[in-house]
Amino acid sequence: MTQSCRRFSPALAPILLALLLGGPALASEIVGGRAARPHAWPFIASLQRRGGHFCGATLIARNFVLSAAHCLNGLNFRSVRVVLGAHNLRRQERTRQMFRVRRVFENGFDPLSLQNDVVVLQLNRMATLNANVQVARLPAQDQGVGEGVRCVAMGWGRLGTNRPPPQILQQLNVTVVTGLCRPTNVCTLVPRRRAGICFGDSGGPLVCNGLVHGIDSFIRGGCGSGVFPDSFASVAKFANWINSIIRRYSDDDGPSLHPRDPTVKSEALSRKQPARSWGPRPAS
Ligand SMILES: *[C@@H]1O[C@H](CO)[C@@H](O)[C@H](O)[C@H]1NC(C)=O
Repeated sequence: MTQSCRRFSPALAPILLALLLGGPALASEIVGGRAARPHAWPFIASLQRRGGHFCGATLIARNFVLSAAHCLNGLNFRSVRVVLGAHNLRRQERTRQMFRVRRVFENGFDPLSLQNDVVVLQLNRMATLNANVQVARLPAQDQGVGEGVRCVAMGWGRLGTNRPPPQILQQLNVTVVTGLCRPTNVCTLVPRRRAGICFGDSGGPLVCNGLVHGIDSFIRGGCGSGVFPDSFASVAKFANWINSIIRRYSDDDGPSLHPRDPTVKSEALSRKQPARSWGPRPAS
């Protein structure tokens, strides 16, 4: 594993950076997918700043979402809004519920290798569960998915500051592959098609057999390259850690709507550095 990581890592960051700096024309949303039925995936969340979507997330308890660590890296988490119950981001939808982030939990994220690209966000209050907002089911620790398993990737992802904002949630059938993939990632390809996740899909869920098995992490060679598989953080590798956070804080609703919570614990990701531009998020 050490060897494969050594082989794997050096090429990774440059490719992400090149893409963000505006390489070739890339698809504006998940590449090659189709519009989801409204609220077909009631656990997906949109992470937003100033009303703009920048990453996906998954509702994993009434007051927690799971996302990619690179989505929050270098950001002031107090500027982030978590939107549940959305479908068309251009519309004002009555189904939506909006939250602030109360605490941020990360687990050894390495921005260079993109290992441990997982973050748990505690919301400022409990979500109301209904037909449009549901808690996702996660795999048990180390019960990941193997080669050939069919999954669905979904998101409002896009690339390009000059493109119109993404609108309707897209979904895409994908297949798990193990080639060109680290053991700590789940990787997927779309057989015989150039399709896949793209910028802005980061942090969103990969659903396999009804469970959220992956968190959109990174791509290589462009969106829907048809060659390199898309890479997701493996939820099964973090299941015990995720569940321990939920157990510890699930009935800790706290003072809601408190903009500057002084009780933020040491696990919280503080703003240590200015926003960096290497991550798969809109360049705007
Ligand atoms: C996606 O997969 C499902 C279940 O395997 C299948 O029923 C559906 O037709 C597929 N959709 C597309 C667009 O290929």
